[in-house]
Amino acid sequence: MSEVTDKFKTMLYLNGVSVSFDGFRALNNLSIIVHPNEMLAIIGPNGAGKTTMMDIITGKTRPDSGTVFFGSTIDLLRHKEADIAQLGIGRKFQKPTVFEHLTVFENLELALKTDKGVRRSMFFKLDSTQSDRLAEILETIHLSDSVSRMAGNLSHGQKQWLEIGMLLMQDPKLLLLDEPVAGMTDEETARTAELFLTLKGKHSLMVVEHDMSFIRTISEIVTVLCDGSVLAQGTLDEVQADERVIEVYLGR
Ligand SMILES: Nc1ncnc2c1ncn2[C@@H]1O[C@H](COP(=O)(O)OP(=O)(O)O)[C@@H](O)[C@H]1O
Ligand SMILES: [Mg+2]
Repeated sequence: MSEVTDKFKTMLYLNGVSVSFDGFRALNNLSIIVHPNEMLAIIGPNGAGKTTMMDIITGKTRPDSGTVFFGSTIDLLRHKEADIAQLGIGRKFQKPTVFEHLTVFENLELALKTDKGVRRSMFFKLDSTQSDRLAEILETIHLSDSVSRMAGNLSHGQKQWLEIGMLLMQDPKLLLLDEPVAGMTDEETARTAELFLTLKGKHSLMVVEHDMSFIRTISEIVTVLCDGSVLAQGTLDEVQADERVIEVYLGR
């Protein structure tokens, strides 16, 4: 797909989404679009609704009002959480959730199984396309030298990469990543930025992060979320100079 046509298509479309918890409006008429192969970087203060937005996209939370479409035809509000993952939306939570007692290889292999869970099928074998894909992903996540290590023995950063690798095994159209570099060393953060840049153009990505240098590396444009809706959008320099953004977020 060319970049020109990508701009006229949507991968994800949220329109007028609101949700309240005990009277508190966590999302307030939120509208946001992710285009095919776009990297949408999102910043915003704690409590802005960033994680709640991902909960809504993945079917974990239902909005009180609004519409959520995947592509131009799939109404995500009509699908269950497990179906949404199958449709091609992969989500990375803040904490890594790899299987600590399995090797790196086994974790990636397991990610291909679509029986939604932890049960290991004794008869599962990778076909050659899947093996090639696994090898390619190992390269991407910098774990080619660690295939037989127990996931539990990896560093925090490596666990995060492994989990991203597990998502990639499913070849998602859209990846949602919530604070992927939190707790990483500077070097791990830099390598993660590199990793994300290799994903750019192959998947649509929505990345929530507080680390500004990381954000600057992965995307020219950022969207600022505040009080459950979009406060500003522009280059990082533009939003960093925006009085409203400084007031609610950067100035603190
Ligand atoms: N399931 C829930 N039940 C009650 N309150 C929630 C729930 N999820 C989020 N909230 C509230 O919604 C607001 C937005 O939270 P969140 O989306 O986690 O913000 P962010 O990720 O931007 O820091 C917070 O005030 C949070 O306490
Ligand atoms: Mg959050």
